[in-house]
Amino acid sequence: MKNLKRSWAEPYKIKMVELLKMTTAPQRKKALREAGYNTFLLKSDDVYIDLLTDSGTSAMSDRQWAGMMMGDEAYAGSRNFYHLEKVVQETYGYKYLIPTHQGRGAENILSKILIKNGDIIPGNMYFTTTRLHQELAGGRFEDIIIDEAHDAENEFPFKGNVNLAKLDKLIKKYGAAKIPYISIATSVNMAGGQPISLANLKELRAFTKKHKIRIIHDMTRVAENAYFIQQKEKGYNKKSIKEIVKEINAYTDGCTMSAKKDALVNIGGFLAVNEWDVFEEARNMVVVYEGLHTYGGLAGRDMEAMAIGIGESVSDDHIRARVGQVIYLGNKMMDYNIPIVKPIGGHGIFVDAKKFLPHIPQGNFPAQTLAAELYLDAGVRTMERGIVSAGRKANGDNYFPKLELVRFTIPRRVYTQAHMDVIAESTANVYERRNKIKGMKMVYEPKYLRFFQARFEKL
Ligand code: F0G
Repeated sequence: MKNLKRSWAEPYKIKMVELLKMTTAPQRKKALREAGYNTFLLKSDDVYIDLLTDSGTSAMSDRQWAGMMMGDEAYAGSRNFYHLEKVVQETYGYKYLIPTHQGRGAENILSKILIKNGDIIPGNMYFTTTRLHQELAGGRFEDIIIDEAHDAENEFPFKGNVNLAKLDKLIKKYGAAKIPYISIATSVNMAGGQPISLANLKELRAFTKKHKIRIIHDMTRVAENAYFIQQKEKGYNKKSIKEIVKEINAYTDGCTMSAKKDALVNIGGFLAVNEWDVFEEARNMVVVYEGLHTYGGLAGRDMEAMAIGIGESVSDDHIRARVGQVIYLGNKMMDYNIPIVKPIGGHGIFVDAKKFLPHIPQGNFPAQTLAAELYLDAGVRTMERGIVSAGRKANGDNYFPKLELVRFTIPRRVYTQAHMDVIAESTANVYERRNKIKGMKMVYEPKYLRFFQARFEKL
């Protein structure tokens, strides 16, 4: 085995542990049957290693917990809000802050302010909640990510980049006035946590300046993106994560943030902008949907934990260990010849189920089947990102997406290297008996977002 050298380690030690229930194979078999072979329907108590998401699942530091005790639970003007405001301005560089309960709260307010009926919002691949809020505000999302992002095998290091020719075409077709902003995510989630380069962002800034179009940044995983820039982009290996994060943001006009990821908290988010008019409107609107503009649906203690978490999230030592752990798992998977999306992204490993179970037709749900088998083997919970998630078209036909994936999302600061070993070994076990694995049929299909509640039976 190559690649197992570990040149990083956690910049923390463990002070408190959360005990897990260890299950037996018969218990898992029963739990899975009761959950209709859908990992979303498993009880968390029946899960050993939970890789369903990296959202809201981080372990907070002793400093964050201490900060929670310093919560100023005033309805208006909480001290923790002013702390958070200062940290956001200093760390991210945006001028005005509106706290929200989580990322989609910020997406809702921003979309309502900036988007008019019939507008076009180009972006580097969609995210579910982001696109939905753009549509609910009367807009239409257009994908302008480079083609490489849609190819699991392509090893281009910045698969989050924008194709300017695609954007130019949209501007020529609809006119710049119909495009209120470009929606740019760092560490593109649906592409596998793939980063955008600063060179590409700089070009995009110059181009949008010419056409007077804003760039709004989905900053959810900006520090992880900054790490890839530091490691892979020419001219940045001597720059700190802090400096790179600031530079990324300087090429954009505002952001929405789900602090449940990068910023190391279990709940929280915000909207931050540089334009006074947009801020003023958002400050009016937040009262309707979230709460007063100095708490936005959060407790004072939540804002304090976030302010401290943001500071920890942009430390070089933290991010090296965070992404290092994901890369460690990915390399270990590759050593077992398990087919994964490349390059390895920032927040998880995406296994290619079409390659893993080539004998199962997509109509018999290879990724859903694989997620179920993984749980059976050792109690590792993952998520389907394939035909079940893609759903049906308006005419009722199933989408047959090119990518049929299982996402292994790694929570921050939660699991150890030994857990990563168990995950890879368990996946390798399943890989060894892959030829004996049969597909499934769907026996219950909900009308909306079927992946959450669908039920299956083994063939
Ligand atoms: N933007 C991105 C890129 C996200 O990944 C998410 C959430 C959101 C916005 C919405 O933020 O959940 O705080 O309202 N992603 C989670 C996931 C749910 O599992 O990938 P939220």
